[in-house]
Amino acid sequence: TDRYAVFGHPIAHSKSPLIHAAFARQTGQDMTYEAILAPKDGFAGSVAQFIAAGGRGANVTVPFKEQAFALANRRSPRAEHAGAVNTLVFDSCGILGDNTDGAGLVADLSHNLNCAIAGKRVLLLGAGGAARGGIGPLLDQQPAALVIANRTISRAQALAELFGHGITACGFNAANMPFDLVINATAASLAGELPPLSPRVFTADTLAYDMMYGRDTPFLAFARSHGAATADGLGMLVEQAAEAFYLWRGVRPDTAPVIASLRQDRL
Ligand code: ATR
Repeated sequence: TDRYAVFGHPIAHSKSPLIHAAFARQTGQDMTYEAILAPKDGFAGSVAQFIAAGGRGANVTVPFKEQAFALANRRSPRAEHAGAVNTLVFDSCGILGDNTDGAGLVADLSHNLNCAIAGKRVLLLGAGGAARGGIGPLLDQQPAALVIANRTISRAQALAELFGHGITACGFNAANMPFDLVINATAASLAGELPPLSPRVFTADTLAYDMMYGRDTPFLAFARSHGAATADGLGMLVEQAAEAFYLWRGVRPDTAPVIASLRQDRL
């Protein structure tokens, strides 16, 4: 039986063990997946202990994704672009770091929500780690425009420079024209706050997407009240997990039944 785990702090409420257990059942993989609470100042030690105990791979969540990036001795191009690692593979060559968050976002949008990104005008809110992880995979889909709006404009500008062509950076007040897709990657939802966003970004054809999941957020309620369709980040959570599962096991699980079960709280 191969061992996997998710490392975080806090970690008790993580849905990843449920998701990976469902994937393993569905695909007949002989594996376990546990949640490990790493001390805030003891991430590397915690991972080393897990490897010594036979761990084959891991997911990494808040607040360790940057430390996981540094810990990996090899990194995928998408991890380099994201500047953060959410998936680790332990093998004879050491620790491989990958990032499946952006791929999970794109998979949820294009496969589950029927929102192909090619040719669309996309507004990405936020310029922290969550936003950065989405940029590369979104650009790969060739949107007509990708605008990054952030409270602190300089952080949005830094991201635009990092990725080069094809991105516009601005403050919230300058994002005041319609978009096909508006993605909230700010931490505002966590605090129950609404980013200071113009309602003019929404039309009846807009999809408003919040990377947060589990409850209706002020951002989604605001978007809905201005006519937009809405989606939370539960699908992204399951899709990034499926991408990690594929990396570890070489098998792609069917995500739809897992998302449906999670929505009904029956996993
Ligand atoms: P994460 O890794 O989750 O992205 P982060 O790097 O701390 O976390 O970034 C948080 C993001 O949420 C930033 O874009 C932040 O804006 P600033 O760069 O101006 O700080 C944004 N954010 C947090 N609270 C917000 C709020 N109430 N309204 C709008 N943006 C907010």
